[in-house]
Amino acid sequence: MNQKRAGVTVNRLRVIGAGAMGRGIAQVAVTAGIEVELTDAVDSAVGAGIDFVCAMIRRSSDKGQRTVAEAEAAIARLHAGRAPTAPGDDLDLVIEAVVENLEVKRSIFADLEATVPNALLASNTSSLSITAIASVLDRPERLVGLHFFNPVPLMKLVEIVPGLRTGAETVSAARQLVDRFGYTGVLAKDTPGFLVNHLGRGLPTEALQLLSETVAEPVDIDRIARDTVGLKMGPFELMDLTGLDVSHPVLETVYAGFYGDPRLRPSPITATRLSGKMLGRKTGAGFYRYDGGTQQVPG
Ligand code: NAI
Repeated sequence: MNQKRAGVTVNRLRVIGAGAMGRGIAQVAVTAGIEVELTDAVDSAVGAGIDFVCAMIRRSSDKGQRTVAEAEAAIARLHAGRAPTAPGDDLDLVIEAVVENLEVKRSIFADLEATVPNALLASNTSSLSITAIASVLDRPERLVGLHFFNPVPLMKLVEIVPGLRTGAETVSAARQLVDRFGYTGVLAKDTPGFLVNHLGRGLPTEALQLLSETVAEPVDIDRIARDTVGLKMGPFELMDLTGLDVSHPVLETVYAGFYGDPRLRPSPITATRLSGKMLGRKTGAGFYRYDGGTQQVPG
């Protein structure tokens, strides 16, 4: 185990992927006092991510949640990063939050093995095996799953997922970081979908079944989930927020990971919508329509 990581305190973080999750993680980290470089394969995504985080932090000071000086200090800790796998001797931690694809993630970590020799490594994967991602590393003990939830600044829960070869020191550093964020860390085993995306399969699966049997429309199923089950969002609202490009591959991974257990079978409804780019909020159309970000009548 590298000396620099003994009892590691994270002061310098690189986030790879400036999408919904990466920007949220960056926001929470800079407000916790950490210097963050935000990177992405697409340059414009970095700029958009930084603009978004700055706007959210300034809004929090407008609402009186932090002083203007605190907000500006947090913003000053956020930097447009070097290339995602550029050399980074000075980094304490790299969190990867790119597309949910095993080979893409493996390729990123294979590059980081050489270019970022000292840092702890983490993946925000929703469902892929941490052990499988770490297989490309010479030192798999430094990779751990840190599974944040969307939207990151509001969902104060993180699954901490050790792979089979993750070091105890890496897990303890991950836990320290989650504590520093003021989040609840739940230790989950490296199984398909971990804890939350396995447990959480039931409701959307049954909701899609109800829709396919034309028992009820998404708006009614969502209302029941909110009003009687007490969820903040119904299953269709949540799928629209997450985006089917993100959630459908998770369903497929969990299904395949349990060798085709019929209880976990993905629905053709989401597959068809995904192929038609009806992804949810991000494309303006999902189970609901969105006008300027506001949810409209179903369709
Ligand atoms: P997103 O699609 O919003 O953002 C992904 C970003 O990664 C994009 O900006 C894209 O340009 C960038 N990217 C793609 N390939 C790259 C590469 N090779 N190198 C650098 N950047 C690259 O995706 P989102 O929603 O932020 O998801 C990211 C990860 O977080 C996925 O693994 C997903 O499963 C996981 N996750 C997503 C949640 C959600 O609700 N959206 C919840 C929890 C985890």
